[in-house]
Amino acid sequence: MSKKFIIANWKNKPETLAQAETLMSALDEYFQGQSETKQHSLVICPPFLFLEDVARLIQQSHLAHNAELGAQDVALEIQGAATGETTGVMLQKVDVRYVIIGHSERRWKLGESEETVNLKLKAALIQDFVPVVCIGEKLRDGSEREFLSEQIKKTFVGVSKDHIRRCLVAYEPVWAISTNLDAKPDTPESAAQSVKIIRGVLQEEFQLSDADMPLFLYGGSVKAHNVKSFLEQPEFSGVLVGGASVDAEEFIKILSLVV
Ligand code: PGA
Repeated sequence: MSKKFIIANWKNKPETLAQAETLMSALDEYFQGQSETKQHSLVICPPFLFLEDVARLIQQSHLAHNAELGAQDVALEIQGAATGETTGVMLQKVDVRYVIIGHSERRWKLGESEETVNLKLKAALIQDFVPVVCIGEKLRDGSEREFLSEQIKKTFVGVSKDHIRRCLVAYEPVWAISTNLDAKPDTPESAAQSVKIIRGVLQEEFQLSDADMPLFLYGGSVKAHNVKSFLEQPEFSGVLVGGASVDAEEFIKILSLVV
């Protein structure tokens, strides 16, 4: 069976490099006690400010064979001036391999349009990153099938089958993300149904066969107590973990449960 992905989306945490180092050293200690065989595909996505340090800490520790580096976003400009942005070229220089694209906080809080998400996805693919594409409805009010369908069409428009297959698609219902008021995780069964909808759209709109399908992840209030129930669904090849990924104790529990 292929290894499950665990994508740690640190978001804008922790606040200091010293705290990031403490978190990394807890992970190092955990992996020190593990067998040499890699048990899962761990991707750590720290804030841009700490990318270079986290890259170094991965290389110098027991994470070297157990974790890879991801970024939480990428500039849509491959070349050219872009104040405040971090380009793919800069990310490559610090060994970033994965890039989160279209996270709901960027879509909804920062006003990132479908067009921007699509351009960033294309920029990430051209530059050989593995995009972790976030898809998810804002509300569960009966309109989710239609919403997901529109979002997928606009996110992937103009992207080739081969490129779609290279993506990891994270189904993250916005209402289930832990920082939202009253958030609660989706049920594994209903999340798996949503993946079926996403697969259906990819099949109909982009002519993807089963063999062409990308891998799917679940994200939204994943914690130690529920991670296994999501991964028991055959639709899911991994999880995208936000809040719990910066809580060393909770995250190590998650790692120990995903084998
Ligand atoms: P959460 O965040 O695990 O804290 O719900 C997931 C995400 O926003 O990627």
